[in-house]
Amino acid sequence: MPDIDGINEAKQYYTDVPQTAKRYFLKGSDSLDWGMKNRLGRIFNPVSGKTVMLAIDHGYFQGPTTGLERIDLNILPLEPYADTLMLTRGILRSIIPPDTQKSIVLRVSGGTSILKELSNEALALDIEDAVRLNASAMAVQVFIGGEYEKETIINMTKMVDMGMRCGIPTLAVTAVGKNMVRDAKYFRLATRICAELGAQYIKTYYVPEDFETVTAACPVPIVIAGGQKMLELDALKMASQAIQAGAAGVDMGRNIFQSDSPVAMIQAVRAVVHDNESPEKAFDLYNTLKK
Ligand code: 5RP
Repeated sequence: MPDIDGINEAKQYYTDVPQTAKRYFLKGSDSLDWGMKNRLGRIFNPVSGKTVMLAIDHGYFQGPTTGLERIDLNILPLEPYADTLMLTRGILRSIIPPDTQKSIVLRVSGGTSILKELSNEALALDIEDAVRLNASAMAVQVFIGGEYEKETIINMTKMVDMGMRCGIPTLAVTAVGKNMVRDAKYFRLATRICAELGAQYIKTYYVPEDFETVTAACPVPIVIAGGQKMLELDALKMASQAIQAGAAGVDMGRNIFQSDSPVAMIQAVRAVVHDNESPEKAFDLYNTLKK
């Protein structure tokens, strides 16, 4: 539609003001395409730069894990407090209401169970389904040092290639499995390999000694898994120490959904991750909310 006569002169082009572009807030992510940044920005809070992902994908290799027997009853009440749900497409389609406003990280590797060699995984989801499900990222297991190390690395690079085509980031989940030496040297190796080969962010375990060297040597964000259930205060201390050492958040499962009060625990974890609250204060919050 042509401009109305006389309006032209009123236009303001700010010819003396250079166009600005804000740097993207996430470490190592500034060169990614718009769609990928937009999806990462639904996982990581652009204000705090951090995320609280709720991991509930354990059933994909170990069946109905304690606390996940009835996701409709046990997990849906936690959904409002999570930034992201990490889960399988089976649980997503069968139980999670499609009107959720939470970002979704889909488990895309699988094919083994606790009864067999865990590292013998393949890709278990077509990228088209991740697009259909509006996934914000796709999670692939990478078993560095495991029996099927190479195959799982290639699973990841294939997912990264497909994700690049569709604008969906890949989360490499590394250092999970039996008989691993879990020290900073191993985590530096595992996380760096995943980042070098293209994962947009990495999930690994926290170690108290030298974890800051793991995050420093990894060019993209790291989130930590919670691991086996521990006392609530200890889990909050671990989350806090990981954040202080450069982690960009948590992808926590059992230490939330196996807590005496999962709804209180996830809010206490949020306080540590997003508000830099001390573990002791967050534990007070947990006890208050638990009542
Ligand atoms: C399993 C996973 C799980 O999501 C994750 O490790 C579980 O979280 P948590 O250890 O906190 O229960 O990736 O391979």
